[in-house]
Amino acid sequence: MTYIRETIVTTVDTKGVAHIAPLGIIQQDDGWVIAPFHPSKTLENLAAIPFAIANYTDDMLVFAGCLTGRKDWPTVAVKNCPVPRLESALSHSVLKVVSVDDDALRPRHFCKVVSEATHAPFTGLNRAKAAVLELAILVSRLSMLPPDKIQAEIAYLTIAIEKTGGPDEHQAWSWLMQKVKDHQDAADSKGKSAIHHGGDI
Ligand SMILES: Cc1cc2nc3c(=O)[nH]c(=O)nc-3n(C[C@H](O)[C@H](O)[C@H](O)COP(=O)(O)O)c2cc1C
Repeated sequence: MTYIRETIVTTVDTKGVAHIAPLGIIQQDDGWVIAPFHPSKTLENLAAIPFAIANYTDDMLVFAGCLTGRKDWPTVAVKNCPVPRLESALSHSVLKVVSVDDDALRPRHFCKVVSEATHAPFTGLNRAKAAVLELAILVSRLSMLPPDKIQAEIAYLTIAIEKTGGPDEHQAWSWLMQKVKDHQDAADSKGKSAIHHGGDI
């Protein structure tokens, strides 16, 4: 059994420039594994500066924003840590990379928790926030999933958005849906040009 926390991970490059990305951190022994795919900025940053912050947030605009080119979310410096945290984090863990299992696809960075802090109260579960999270995961895998699976999942998740979402969840949902539409439009026009090309032969 694998327990995964869906978080916003902050890292920094050698110049101290922060990078924000949604990542699932995997529970292992007394720590957490960060497993960014090759190639990625998070992977590059962890190789240069082996610290990360796992930001625990229910602000779905940040999850949806990171996947739709809106990465400029405010961060705050953290004492004794080279990496800043997300301003909107309800709480965070400072993670230090202590070993790396190298892998051509997805190296696993085993991290120990150096410190933790809480900034704001957790105000309860919400189905629309969970639906945005699920759509964000779908969007991060659009090129790997069959279109009918994407449509079926969206049909189900839409119920939670319509019944339980507030303005932020609706906004986050619409950013992600635009990305789904762009992907489908690109696939359609590729299909059309393939048919056209086929006709030529
Ligand atoms: C909830 C969620 C969890 C994710 N978990 C991972 C992960 O564990 N590893 C990964 O490489 N990408 C994961 N992704 C996709 C990354 O957020 C995305 O690919 C991101 O751009 C990472 O690349 P970057 O570090 O270059 O920004 C996840 C996305 C979402 C929405």
